[in-house]
Amino acid sequence: MATGVYISKFLAIAIVVLTVSSIGGIITMIIVYENERIKTQPTAPPTTNSTTPYPAGPPPNMRLPGNLIPESYDIVLQPHLYIVMNNTTNQSLVFTGNSTVYFRCVENTKTIVLHSKEQNVTAVKVTDLDKEKIIKVDNTILYSNESNFLEIVLDSVLVKDGNYSLFTAFEGELLDDLAGFYMSSYKKGFIATSQMQPTDARKVFPCFDEPAMKATFRVSLIHRPGTTALANGKVIGTTLEVIDGETWEVTRFQTTKKMSTYLLAFTVSDFHSIGSTHERVDIKTYARPEAIKAGQAKYAASITGNILAFYESTFSTDAYFISTLDQIALPDFSAGAMENWGLVTYRETALLYEEGVSSTSNKEWIATVIAHELAHQWFGNLVTMKWWNDLWLNEGFATYISYMGVDHIEPTWNIKDLIVLNDIQTVFQVDSLASSHPLSSKEDDVQTSSDITQLFDSITYSKGAAVLRMLADYLDERVFLNGLRKYLQAFQYSNTVHKDLWEYLQEAVDEDSSHIKVAEVMDTWTKQMGYPVITINTTNGAVSQEHFLQNQTSDYDFEWHVPIRVMKEGEPIKIATLDKKVLMPDFLSEDGKWVLANINCMGYFRVNYDPVNWDRLLSQLEMNIHEIPIINRGQLIDDAFNLARAKHINVTLALRTTKYLWNDTEYIPWESALRNLDYFILMFDRSEVYGPMQAYLRKQVGGLYQHFENFTMFSTVPEQYNQINAISVACSNDIPECQEMARMLFDNWMTNKTSNRIHPNLKATIYCQAIAAGGEKEWEFAWGKFENATTATEKDKLRYALSCTRKIWLLNRYLEYTLNPDKIRKMDAVSTISYIARNVAGQAIAWNFVRANWNYIKGIMSLGNLIDGVTQRFSTDFELEELWQFLTDHDVEELHLAIRALEQATERTEANIKWVKENKQTVLEWFKNESRREQLN
Ligand SMILES: *[C@@H]1O[C@H](CO)[C@@H](O)[C@H](O)[C@H]1NC(C)=O
Ligand SMILES: *[C@@H]1O[C@H](CO)[C@@H](O)[C@H](O)[C@H]1NC(C)=O
Ligand SMILES: *[C@@H]1O[C@H](CO)[C@@H](O)[C@H](O)[C@H]1NC(C)=O
Ligand SMILES: *[C@@H]1O[C@H](CO)[C@@H](O)[C@H](O)[C@H]1NC(C)=O
Ligand SMILES: *[C@@H]1O[C@H](CO)[C@@H](O)[C@H](O)[C@H]1NC(C)=O
Ligand SMILES: *[C@@H]1O[C@H](CO)[C@@H](O)[C@H](O)[C@H]1NC(C)=O
Ligand SMILES: [Zn+2]
Repeated sequence: MATGVYISKFLAIAIVVLTVSSIGGIITMIIVYENERIKTQPTAPPTTNSTTPYPAGPPPNMRLPGNLIPESYDIVLQPHLYIVMNNTTNQSLVFTGNSTVYFRCVENTKTIVLHSKEQNVTAVKVTDLDKEKIIKVDNTILYSNESNFLEIVLDSVLVKDGNYSLFTAFEGELLDDLAGFYMSSYKKGFIATSQMQPTDARKVFPCFDEPAMKATFRVSLIHRPGTTALANGKVIGTTLEVIDGETWEVTRFQTTKKMSTYLLAFTVSDFHSIGSTHERVDIKTYARPEAIKAGQAKYAASITGNILAFYESTFSTDAYFISTLDQIALPDFSAGAMENWGLVTYRETALLYEEGVSSTSNKEWIATVIAHELAHQWFGNLVTMKWWNDLWLNEGFATYISYMGVDHIEPTWNIKDLIVLNDIQTVFQVDSLASSHPLSSKEDDVQTSSDITQLFDSITYSKGAAVLRMLADYLDERVFLNGLRKYLQAFQYSNTVHKDLWEYLQEAVDEDSSHIKVAEVMDTWTKQMGYPVITINTTNGAVSQEHFLQNQTSDYDFEWHVPIRVMKEGEPIKIATLDKKVLMPDFLSEDGKWVLANINCMGYFRVNYDPVNWDRLLSQLEMNIHEIPIINRGQLIDDAFNLARAKHINVTLALRTTKYLWNDTEYIPWESALRNLDYFILMFDRSEVYGPMQAYLRKQVGGLYQHFENFTMFSTVPEQYNQINAISVACSNDIPECQEMARMLFDNWMTNKTSNRIHPNLKATIYCQAIAAGGEKEWEFAWGKFENATTATEKDKLRYALSCTRKIWLLNRYLEYTLNPDKIRKMDAVSTISYIARNVAGQAIAWNFVRANWNYIKGIMSLGNLIDGVTQRFSTDFELEELWQFLTDHDVEELHLAIRALEQATERTEANIKWVKENKQTVLEWFKNESRREQLN
């Protein structure tokens, strides 16, 4: 969606931001959802005069009246853009075209209302197909408000059950706005490409631009000779034609299946492609010719056919429904990817993998995005939500199913477990704030493009996936998939609301003679915001639920229908269900044994226990970690820290959940702990708490570091992520062997000059640690490498690592560089300053720098992210006063876009001050005790 940053499609496109804690400590992945803000104020369209015999004028809301149903379109588009320029051509950004839409009338009317936006409609012709005569057009009105309505007022009435056509000719401009039909430039040339979702097909040609207005599309693209045109279907012919004295190539595409307008796609480029193996479907992966030549599309091509075949067998709606599938890597695409039917578009980093340069997590991202977009070919493209309020049916499914797709092709990754970190723990945060919202919105509450755009958020993607995962587990995956096949079969080429899904899943449940009432269960999860904390008293088996909020008590008496997988020490897992507060034998501890609920975090809720049971679980972890499943080891930690934040338990209990980690090498528990401890580091790394905290972390990470040490020294990677955690925690907490190792690997690179043998997975961490431990020489070397690096990922890793130095004067100079676009590109300035502020040595100087250069900065940088970045650590009265001072020193006009961010920063600082006041002494004592114990050992 849109301007600048297109949101969504994938993971609302998750931008993975590397942040460094204190001196380059813990690397956390944060998913940032960037929302487009559409500036236009909605203006109410004139209301219908109820006394006129036929509805006239646009509808009273922002929705199409539904009196005309499109059946098919013929579209001709001609982008005048030159794909390859030479010094005699003048670039042209115009596109022209025409379209005929054939439609049926279901209710008498004298006006045709459809969508058109930011284009000039130059001809309009309406034909009565039954009587074979032209209908006179009295007037055409384009509404400039958010409705984007094009109203065509007719001289005579269109009658119910009549068949008509509307021809329009139009012209528009290919801007670099990433919306509709747009252009993008890169080093070697230009491309024309498109992004329609959610509401920009109307920017390309006048159309009934709502997802339920499905039709077939017959497309022709007229483009410069020698360039490659792609659209949703197979090419059925190309010819050369002379138009206005110039030679053009005309590419005609096979008529599409019945589909929504937001899934159309067109590209014209000089890209090359490679094929994939698949029994029936012709799969091609396109990218810049140099990228194809360098083999960067090979990995994507190698997995696409397999994932497609896997989905075909899983969903068996007579296989994939079209005969071609193209995917293309775009140099300039601010979404992650977009699932256009038969022509999937990606950002380069979501499709191109360079052996030896890209890291394992780059590869995992590529597999995940491809699996997500291919899942949409069924969930979204074949069966589509009726209206955007049910967007989670698209995005929740694609997110959930993508884990199945990736697991199928890369079974060794255990990717299915990672949904707990990537989606569930992440959205738990957002969904525990009072500002959250339910998964399902009311249809009437979603009308304008900005209403729609805002739905592309983590609730829709991650909570959608989490509740589907819970449901699949509750019903049994076999029954769940059976229901899905029925649902896909019943609604193929049409649209659904969420009730349709419940109905078909219910059918599968009934066939299986189960008694679960799907709609009743799921309504509690989709119609209420937030989620419950389940409180279990194992001394009497009492179980209750309550709406979990981070910062306050709930004003609602929400109740959820909660399926709970529960396990007692030494016994198998059972499923219990909870509606109200009850006593349940399944949750009663016998013979002093522990009870563990929410096995593998299958349920979308947190769990709290009576103190005795917490103690028993923690003792179990000390004795034998393998009795507790890996995911639960992570979840116990994440639940405990969040329960403590919300004051359900003491902060010391939360800290105690990390004590057993010295003996655990698994990624999920470690990552869960580090994400939560990150807040402690920010709050305390300038205080006397930090010394004992570091001593504690050294003790905890020692075993983990040794576990990976030999691999690290020889730059190999036995496992995906925890090696990175081991190095960053060990080095940033001053374990000498670690710092020595980082220096040595970096030194080898410096002295060897030519080749860098540090494994791609470890580069960011090793560079950062070496620069933190080193001085000017290391910094200058890295700066030189940064200036000369040719791959974007390598440049990003170095840019981050340069912020890790502890030398104030180097940090100051680095800050100055952010004002010079020849040194740090403008788009990277904010994240560079934020990296520096993350470094405890850079915190104060970054904040001073921002204030001192405010007049320059405010013109060029994204102020919200900048303020957020430089004030993260704020937790003292002095810092709060500085924020207030800053607010009073500048008038509102001048602060402009930063005002909201400054207010949020003030609020966060106040909350931090309170938290530090309440917890500092306790936390200090705890770390002191634990580190004293280290000396005794
Ligand atoms: C509505 O229609 C009636 C009858 O045609 C007419 O008298 C009246 O002026 C119209 N009102 C508006 C607001 O156009
Ligand atoms: C430059 O491009 C134009 C249009 O594509 C072409 O007609 C012309 O021959 C080209 N000139 C050179 C020198 O390549
Ligand atoms: C334009 O093209 C001519 C002939 O190919 C070449 O000699 C000249 O350097 C080019 N000029 C520029 C500015 O690229
Ligand atoms: C649509 O545009 C194409 C290309 O300019 C042209 O050949 C065709 O005749 C136009 N269609 C109509 C119905 O005017
Ligand atoms: C639309 O028409 C106006 C007025 O003729 C013109 O200024 C503008 O450039 C046109 N826009 C496009 C996209 O062709
Ligand atoms: C658990 O139940 C027992 C027995 O009813 C009660 O004495 C105890 O206070 C309860 N514990 C908590 C934490 O509510
Ligand atoms: Zn998606």
